[in-house]
Amino acid sequence: MSLLSIAGLSKSYGGVAALRDASFDVEAGEVHALVGENGAGKSTLIKILAGAVRADAGRIAVDGAPVSILSARDAHRLGLRFLHQELNVLPRLSVAENLFLGRAYPTRIFGLIDWRALHDRARAVLAGFGAANIAPGTILGRLPTADQIIVRIASTFVEDGSGHGRLFVMDEPTAAVSSDEVERLFGVIAELKRRDCAIVYVSHQIDEVLRISDRITVLRDGVSEAATPTAGATRALLIERMTGRAAPEASVAAATSSRSAVSLAVQGVTGLGLSDLAFEVREGEILGVAGVGDAGGDRLLKCLFGGARTGEISIAGRSVRIRNPAGAWRRGLAYVPGERRSEGLFLSHDIAFNVTLPHLGRLARLGVFLNRPAERAKTLALGRRVRLRSSGPRQNVWRLSGGNQQKAMFARAVAGAPRVLLLDEPTRGVDVAAKFDIHSLLREIAGAGASILISSSDHEELLGLCSRILVLREGRVSCATPASGLTPAGLLALCYGARAKEPQP
Ligand SMILES: Nc1ncnc2c1ncn2[C@@H]1O[C@H](COP(=O)(O)OP(=O)(O)OP(=O)(O)O)[C@@H](O)[C@H]1O
Ligand SMILES: [Mg+2]
Repeated sequence: MSLLSIAGLSKSYGGVAALRDASFDVEAGEVHALVGENGAGKSTLIKILAGAVRADAGRIAVDGAPVSILSARDAHRLGLRFLHQELNVLPRLSVAENLFLGRAYPTRIFGLIDWRALHDRARAVLAGFGAANIAPGTILGRLPTADQIIVRIASTFVEDGSGHGRLFVMDEPTAAVSSDEVERLFGVIAELKRRDCAIVYVSHQIDEVLRISDRITVLRDGVSEAATPTAGATRALLIERMTGRAAPEASVAAATSSRSAVSLAVQGVTGLGLSDLAFEVREGEILGVAGVGDAGGDRLLKCLFGGARTGEISIAGRSVRIRNPAGAWRRGLAYVPGERRSEGLFLSHDIAFNVTLPHLGRLARLGVFLNRPAERAKTLALGRRVRLRSSGPRQNVWRLSGGNQQKAMFARAVAGAPRVLLLDEPTRGVDVAAKFDIHSLLREIAGAGASILISSSDHEELLGLCSRILVLREGRVSCATPASGLTPAGLLALCYGARAKEPQP
């Protein structure tokens, strides 16, 4: 008997079908991958299981018995646990406090919290997941993403009187987790399997899916296909089943000529915990920024976008003072932040507003009134380029699927034909086909003379796109190396402090 079975699940949002007659089942002790393009309905299915969204039709059974999940509490009682696409932790509380959130804390006389006992228990729970290295007193938000996820998983095993988790649903847990940390997360998944739990694993990282899942269900436009065993599946086959088209060929990084002019020069820049940054980016160059854990690729980009305290930044040979994001956009810099929901998007506004906001000066008629048709045309054209799936430029951004929100943010950055493009995890949560399109768009933009800086935890992405890579360690640039000839493993070694080979002349 299956631990969970779903049959004929359907859900429409105002005439748009997100799920159509979807069915699948999950066995205890298996990792069941759920894959599909952006907007295919994966998160919708998960939200229904979590009791956050009500299905229009369909049946759900746990251990063969029909259940109705009308609230988060119902889901919890059935042993379902969720790591949603946007991580739900309290970043300002400590690891121990997050672990025991909502449970009774151990107390001493007069009801004072017994912190030592709390930390001892936290250490024991974490050790059970091979994560003894995480200190219970650390503020959760300071930990690398993978550790935050491990704390979340471990917390669902802390007794709260309603039994522990049996089915773990993970919606893109490794988006923006660096490759070495992914291994730790996989260790935790293996431990969950040993405890006879089931895992529903949603990811756009096909290689990951092929490695850790036992079976795969493909969702396409809200319709599910019958699950297939992972053994025997290939990358090309999966992409074809998800998109209905043949998988695109992998392409090679564009080489830049070192003779082109320097468009961005950074000298002695310090700020946001980084010191003494110095490097150059040439016209037409795609420069990668790599590092492990909290190395600071995100902060490096923020420094360039108005966050630097001291140092000199020149654009096209002219020294500039960038004090804030508005000033940066004006000078031809564009930025895709790493956290789309908290830093990037105006969730309650529509796509057109989000895409055109920094460029309103140019779209305004007589400098005052918004040129709506121009705004609409621009949004539509860019949306097509990045495969943004929506009901139109007037759709509210919070109604978009995660990957489509990411594309909206990317469209905004490229909309103003920037001179320098700063990208922090630009394809986080984006499906394989759209990722391919974004990569070719980036090559095209660089080919037209723009400079691109890209920070990514996906080292394959960096090696596939960049001509050179800056490696960050301990708040500094530890080396700058040509990307050609470098393997993901080699890059990871550099991130851990191995020395780069001298670049060939
Ligand atoms: N609250 C909502 N209102 C209107 N439409 C919605 C809402 N939530 C989701 N949708 C639509 O339902 C469809 C499925 O979205 P869903 O979030 O399930 O996709 P997904 O498979 O998780 O995609 P991704 O890989 O990008 O996360 C999309 O077309 C989306 O725009
Ligand atoms: Mg989703």
